[in-house]
Amino acid sequence: MDVDAMKRTAGIEACHWVSDGMSVGLGTGSTVAHTVIELGRRVREEGLDIVGVPTSIATMELATKVGIPLTTLSDAGQLDVVIDGTDEYDPHFTLIKGGGGALTREKVVAQSSNAMVVVADRRKRVDILGAFPLPVEVLDFEWKRTKDRLDAICPGIVTLRGGSAPFVTDNGGLILDCEFGPSITDPLTLEAEILSIAGVVEVGLFCGLCDVVVLADEHSVVISARSDSRLSK
Ligand code: 5RP
Repeated sequence: MDVDAMKRTAGIEACHWVSDGMSVGLGTGSTVAHTVIELGRRVREEGLDIVGVPTSIATMELATKVGIPLTTLSDAGQLDVVIDGTDEYDPHFTLIKGGGGALTREKVVAQSSNAMVVVADRRKRVDILGAFPLPVEVLDFEWKRTKDRLDAICPGIVTLRGGSAPFVTDNGGLILDCEFGPSITDPLTLEAEILSIAGVVEVGLFCGLCDVVVLADEHSVVISARSDSRLSK
């Protein structure tokens, strides 16, 4: 299987956790896009009765195109499940997310869901988080001061995503990518430290949210669940 085939396999397998009557958080990225497409197919062809809450404008557009009825958290309340991608996950099921810049909406939706299924290919599994630069969404207002404070706690380089043509999030924010290297052994403390900086909107560390990882490699799909998972396999 090539990488796209792995993503597709994982994305489709995750639909196993969706059934009639559910409200479903729809993540962002190239892996979960396959989930959205498959759920749309089931809505159109099999009459699957779900509502979705998208985590980005891109996912809202895709879900609309494939026919998934959408709602908001205000209307849906707590969701049954969210399915999303990840940039890294560790043995404790802690995630680094935000490679697509949607981390804030993704975390709002994940925290408003009864369970989280993560879809990934084998490149995303790590022993220690941090080889993937940690995305931090910040306000555009005086972002260089916010960057100074992140520079003070990050051992590597902190880079404005997009450089001279900055990437702007769906919320009008900017992304600072922080090169911690594979050194994040206490993600909860780091999350709190980064969130204490004024100007930070959100950090792409997802602690205690992911219940199940659907991991595709060249030959198979492996489903792993956190020991205290809110979902059964
Ligand atoms: C977007 C994300 C994505 O879920 C993450 O970047 C994984 O994307 P992909 O499935 O394309 O590798 O966090 O903000």
